[in-house]
Amino acid sequence: MDKKINVAVFFGGVSGEHEVSLVSGNSIIQELKKNDKYNVIEIGIGKSGKWFLGDQVLETLKTGKEPETDESVFFSLDPAEKGLVVIKNSENKKELIKVDVIFPVLHGTNGEDGTIQGLFRLSNIPYVGCNVPSSALAMDKILSKRIFASNGLNVVPDIFFTRKDWKENQEDIIKKCEEIGYNLFIKPANTGSSVGITKAHNREELKEGIELASKYDFMVQVEKSIDNAREIEVAILGNDRPKASVAGEIAPSGEFYDYAAKYEDGQSLTIVPARITDKQMKDIQEKAVKAFISLGCRGLSRVDFLMDPKTDEIYLNEINTLPGFTSISMYPKLWEASGIKYGKLLENVINLAFEEFDEKHKNSTNFQSKNDWYKKG
Ligand SMILES: Nc1ncnc2c1ncn2[C@@H]1O[C@H](COP(=O)(O)OP(=O)(O)O)[C@@H](O)[C@H]1O
Ligand SMILES: [Mg+2]
Repeated sequence: MDKKINVAVFFGGVSGEHEVSLVSGNSIIQELKKNDKYNVIEIGIGKSGKWFLGDQVLETLKTGKEPETDESVFFSLDPAEKGLVVIKNSENKKELIKVDVIFPVLHGTNGEDGTIQGLFRLSNIPYVGCNVPSSALAMDKILSKRIFASNGLNVVPDIFFTRKDWKENQEDIIKKCEEIGYNLFIKPANTGSSVGITKAHNREELKEGIELASKYDFMVQVEKSIDNAREIEVAILGNDRPKASVAGEIAPSGEFYDYAAKYEDGQSLTIVPARITDKQMKDIQEKAVKAFISLGCRGLSRVDFLMDPKTDEIYLNEINTLPGFTSISMYPKLWEASGIKYGKLLENVINLAFEEFDEKHKNSTNFQSKNDWYKKG
């Protein structure tokens, strides 16, 4: 039999979505372990940023606390050795665990925003999903919206400002927001899982919402609300020729799809396929692929739309480059409904990581100067 592929699954992370990532990560690990092509290396990242080899970090789901660690153990990814280096100072020992591919199952800050992708890129190891710039752009609700709009994708009107702007020019900002008109959504520029997001129906709630959002990010976005929006989501898979799944629909339990509606109250419904016409389905799938390409996404993403129930107008809301990934999360569900089962989907995204890595290695990093100017001093 061929040698097994060593897949290092990273999960947890320093993010408001730590717990969500633990659940997604655990689900992926259990599925990969069933596949004898793979040898799974579990790397949990605690809320503090500490790395744990194995699944101890899952204890956090039960205890709410990060497990104890041996302070004398250090981890790093080594580009020369292509693997995880474990240094145990107490035993004066250095161990190398070969890694063929990294599967980051990290949501939100520090995991989905291009930062850890930078570390993976420097480590010279293939990794699943979006690269540094596309991860960073998709995470940034202000920048991504501008790219979507410049590619002809319909987005709701918004304004943005910094925490400092808010402290110094409250009246101006309120005026600009009210020119858009209530109701308004207030969002930190870079969070996920609806953390720090509120809906304002009046000036009082607008001010409170901006104060809250600016706790999570120094950049804040305020945008027009599509009241009672239908939430339509499409899963994308691929590198240069991305494919769209059937679209699905979320019916949130509350006024909007906030953190409680997403994870806590268990009352939100996912409807696959979405209750739309064939024509609307095709249109949304095309828009989803266009959005994925416009940010330069790779491997996988879930593209989320808002549909105005009064007019059926479609707005592109956001791209999630590492969407929820338990077997019953929307991304795998959409692929399941499109003919790709969970296990096969994981194989697909891993294969795409290898393909992307090989493609990147066609880039030359050598340039031979004709006259060796630098030797002249
Ligand atoms: N402009 C809007 N109009 C109506 N609902 C919105 C709007 N923006 C966000 N929402 C609601 O808030 C939820 C979270 O917003 P979103 O931009 O998707 O942030 P996150 O990255 O945290 O998922 C959406 O799923 C939707 O329910
Ligand atoms: Mg969202």
